[in-house]
Formats: sequence, C-alpha cells, structure tokens
Amino acid sequence: MAIRAHPHRARRTTEIADLLLAWYDIHRRDLPWRAKPGQVSDPWQVWVSEIMLQQTTVPAVVGYFDRFIRRWPDVRALGSTTLDEVLEAWAGLGYYARARNLHRGARLVVEQLGGKIPADAAALQQIPGIGRYTANAIAAIAFGEPVPAIDTNAGRVLARLLAFDEVLPNGRERLAELAVGLIPPDRPGDFAQALMDFGSRVCLPEQPNCGECPLSGFCRAHKRGLTEVLPRRPAKQPRKTMRAVAFVAIDGSGAVYLVRRANGGLFGGMMQPPLCELRKTFPTDLAAISTAPFSGVWTPKPGIVHHTLTHLELEIRTYVAWFVHRPNGEGIWISPADFASAALPTAMRKILRHALAK
Ligand code: ADE
Repeated sequence: MAIRAHPHRARRTTEIADLLLAWYDIHRRDLPWRAKPGQVSDPWQVWVSEIMLQQTTVPAVVGYFDRFIRRWPDVRALGSTTLDEVLEAWAGLGYYARARNLHRGARLVVEQLGGKIPADAAALQQIPGIGRYTANAIAAIAFGEPVPAIDTNAGRVLARLLAFDEVLPNGRERLAELAVGLIPPDRPGDFAQALMDFGSRVCLPEQPNCGECPLSGFCRAHKRGLTEVLPRRPAKQPRKTMRAVAFVAIDGSGAVYLVRRANGGLFGGMMQPPLCELRKTFPTDLAAISTAPFSGVWTPKPGIVHHTLTHLELEIRTYVAWFVHRPNGEGIWISPADFASAALPTAMRKILRHALAK
C-alpha cells in the first residue's frame, strides 16, 4: 500500500514545505520532462524520465530523453515498436534491463489497459520496471498523489533535515514514512522535485551550502553538526575485475560481425562482437582461439580494453581476423558507419574502436 500524506500537518512541517517550495519556484531546473508552472505533466514523459534517471545523472539523460520522446511521443508508439529499436535508442545509457522493462511495460499498458497509464502508485507498481520509488515518483509528479518519492538527492536532504541515522539506501522505506508528514497535499509533485533539485544545488553530498540554505533553521543535522556524516552510507564494496576475449571479424568491405546477447543479464539483448564468457583470468591464446566464432587467422591486438560498470571492472583482450568471404553465422555484418545507430553498449564500442584502430 502506498504511504500517504498525513492530514494533520504540524507547523514545523508546513513551514519546511513552504520554504522548500518557495525556493523551488525561483530555482527549479528547466528540464524537458517537467511541466512549466501552471501546466500539467505528461505521465508518459514522466515515466520515461524516471526510468532513464535511475542510476543516471540529469545531464547524461537530457539528450537521450529528447530523442526518445521525439521518436515515441506516447505509450502507444513505444508499445508498437520492436525491442531492438528501443535498445538502439538506449545504447550508451547503460542498465539495458531498464529499456527492456520499459518496452514490456508500454506493451502491457497498450494491450491490457487500453493505452491508459495508471494514475496511482499502487497500480503503477504492477507495471514491469516500475518499483516502489518510481511508482511514487510518477504518481506524485504526473498525478499529484501525496506519496514520498525519494531518490538519492531527496534522500540526502531529508536525512539531514530529520537527522535520520540509518544507512541509505537501505533505510529509504523508513525515511519515506518519516517524510510523509512533510508532503504538502496541494503540491506533492513539486515537493518531490523540489527535494531533488535542492539536493543537487544546495544540500550537496560534500560541503553543502548551509550558509545559503533556507532550511538550515529547521535542519537537525545542521544544528547537531552532522551534515558531513549524514546520510550514512554503506561501506564501499571493492569492484570485481572480470576478463574476457572478443573476436572482431572484418570482411573485405570493412564490415564487422556482431551477435546479439541473450535477453537477461549483463548487456541483455544488446549487440557485441563474439565474446567468451567473463572469467577471473584471461584464457591462453590457444584456449581463446578455440572459442572463436569462425576458423581464421586470429591475431591478438596489443593492449587491453578497460571498462568500469557499477559492480564490475571489465578487461577485454581482442583478436582480429580478416575474411575475404563472409563466413556463415547467426550474427549480422555491420559497417562502422552504422555503429552509431546500433544497439551497442559503450563497452562494446570501445572494444570495436580498439580492434579497428590502425
Ligand atoms: N531524478 C529523478 N527524478 C527526477 C526529476 N523528476 N527531476 C530531477 N531529478 C530527478
């Protein structure tokens, strides 16, 4: 069940919301998915933006969002396109399961809900890819439901304001319960976005601008000298390094052989040059070449491609071979001029660039 704003709000909470909204009315970021003052939000645009903004910063999202909405201006448009086209548009944004789920979610809305996006958090959560936070964010921003939508920025502001001592993001549900009383019933969407903007502009992770903060008089962390230690963060886990070899087959025209990854897991559904399984160590040349997609003269390219993901450090060695006639395979041959529009993750683009460099 969604947590809702409390009907009897105390004076402190009303003042906090009023001050934050007054700040937002002056300093709000002009973002492409955001309704201008006095306009109503488009739920489809809010949905797409919230999915893109999971794990990704606003500046990285803006260009992708604009292209995506131009191409698929409503849920029906996305619901009737192919997954591959969606993955192509998502290439470079990372976390490709988000694109697969958004596509599944859009199809579900078109096929089972008559193309109408559900207007409350509980129903939104039934859609693939929409978890508790995202459901609340869409419900608050697009439909004005008074539910807490706490992303990383908002969580930091609230944790400091309330001197919330639990580790985030694990404590986010508890923090959401505490934050419910702060939500102004008349502007829940603006309040959610005000917290996000405030966290990105004033209540910064390091050295927050408490001197200019209109809420500092209400901030328990500020009062107790805890702004540097709140919110509490989990201890950083070191990233694992995994290694693999990639096979870049090139034909007489310079086209390269690519295969599609299985739909689940890392880079699911995206294109890549044939790649051996990720392991802790590189295979020997002999062992590597025994897994090549075609027999040919596979030459190791000097150097290693490094790519960092949230939980993983990738190291890839590449082998290159030229073929006068294209060998038969399940994959496709694509010319480097078409890489830009292909469903190639950034890691794969790096591998191809390395393999094709003179
Ligand atoms: N991060 C997640 N959702 C956001 C939004 N609507 N505005 C700004 N930053 C966000």
